[in-house]
Order: sequence, then structure tokens, then C-alpha cells
Amino acid sequence: MPKLTARDILALKGCDKKIVMLTAYNYPIAIALDEAEIDIILVGDTLGMVEHGHPTTLPVTLDEAISATRAVARGATSHALVVGDLPFLTFGVTSEQTVENAGKLAKEGNAEAIKLEGGSERATEITAITEIGLPVMAHIGLTPQSYFKMGGFKVQGKSEIAAKKLIEDAKRVEEAGAFALVLEGIPWQLGKHITEMLTIPTIGIGAGPFCDGQVLVTYDILGFIDGFKPKFVKQYTNLKQTVLDAVIQYRKEVRQGEFPTIEEYSYDAPPNEQEYFNQLASRKKPLD
Ligand code: KIV
Repeated sequence: MPKLTARDILALKGCDKKIVMLTAYNYPIAIALDEAEIDIILVGDTLGMVEHGHPTTLPVTLDEAISATRAVARGATSHALVVGDLPFLTFGVTSEQTVENAGKLAKEGNAEAIKLEGGSERATEITAITEIGLPVMAHIGLTPQSYFKMGGFKVQGKSEIAAKKLIEDAKRVEEAGAFALVLEGIPWQLGKHITEMLTIPTIGIGAGPFCDGQVLVTYDILGFIDGFKPKFVKQYTNLKQTVLDAVIQYRKEVRQGEFPTIEEYSYDAPPNEQEYFNQLASRKKPLD
């Protein structure tokens, strides 16, 4: 099956097939997601939080995003569309700067589409990026880069006025040329309404089951990160415990001299040199 493109994702609007998206920030996870035939791999700026340990996504730099996207693109060679995420302040200043940074994410990071946060206020930039030939995924609702403005990671669009603003934002990003829209942290009724209103697919994260697709942070579904777990996260396994068990076992075996064994995990001298090497091994004092 050839790799999916933004056009393929757009064509899924109105189909029965839900779009499946997850995040990745490195090569091995990208390989696993691609093998599992996930449709879209987002190299999200959640990189800053779940991979680099920052409290918000704001510190992520363009160079970090490029480096992570390049690694993911190397892993996702068979199936998934790789979407690079523009970090805070790499857009929203001037359209020229936005286009240049989006271009770098594609040229140096091998992103096949660009995501950026924001609604109506980003319309000009969305058009400008599509005009240089890069498909754009928009993102409205709970936009983590607006952490301080929102007063935390809070559900958005909860009042009639706020919901109407998000409906307007969704229309504007579609008109501006976005091929898909992430809806994050909004009441499910609003997610349903926006999904039914648009001709581009919506991809929800905490936006209810009626979106055209769903995205989650991969480390959240794997149970790799302790701490606060939003309501919308479903944890499918406990990788942290699996890693912990393996690492503790390794620590014990090394400390007790059980690993490595000669038979299984050590190199032997060649058969014609056995005598010399066995003598070497049985010496009490090392040779000069
Ligand atoms: O940065 C990210 O990972 C995201 C998703 C959670 C949608 O924006």
C-alpha cells in the first residue's frame, strides 16, 4: 500500500472509515506506528512535555521539531502521513516567517504536512503555507500553546459565545485551505456540529466520538508517563511498569554477576587460539 498523502486524508471525509492519528517523536516509535498502519503520525510539540519534560509545550524550538520530524520520517516509510507541528512563536509573527519555518519543517525535517494551532487569526498564514505547496492541518479548541491565556489546560467552547467563536474559526480555517482540523478539549456536541458542518475531516482529542478521526499522545496510551491524565486519555498498556520491571531485573543480574554469562552473551577466542586465551583468563595477575 503506498504512503498516505494529505489528499488521501481529505478523501476520507464522509467515508465510514475513521482516521487514526497518534504522536511520535523518534524513530523506533515511528516504525511501530507505521507498521500498525496508523494513518497519520503527528510529530507534535507535546515533544516538549512528554519527551523533554517541560511543563508546557512553549519551550520547543524549531530545531528540536525539525530533528524529531526527520527521525520520525525515517521510520514512517510505508504507510503513515507524517505531519510536523510548528512550535510556539515559529508562526504568528509575520506570514513570511511562518512560511519560512513551515518550509524548513518540510525541507529539513521531511514533514509531509504542517500543523499549527489557532483559528481565524491564522487564516492568512494557512493560505500562505498552502500556496508554497504544503498541506496544512489546523488545530482549535484547547490549544496547548495558549496555556497561559487559557489559565491552564482547560476545556474550551463551553459557553454559547465561546462555541460560536470556535464554529467561526472552523469555517475560516477550512476556507483558508486547511486539509484537516484538530479539535481538542471541547464538548462532544460542539465536536459533532463542527464535524457535520465542514467538508474537511476533523480529528478529535477530547472532542467526542463523532469526529472524523481521533488522535492521542502515544505515550499516554502506552502508559509511559505518570501524573495527570486528562479524561479523554485511554491507557491501553502500562509500558512504564514493563520498562521498570526489565530495568530492575537487569540491575539485579549485573550486580549479582549473573549477566553476562560466558555461554550466551560473551565472545570466545578462536578455536586455534584457545590455549593462549585460556591461560590468559586463568592468570591471577594481568600480563605486563
Ligand atoms: O502536539 C501534539 O501532540 C498535539 C496533539 C495532542 C493533537 O497537538
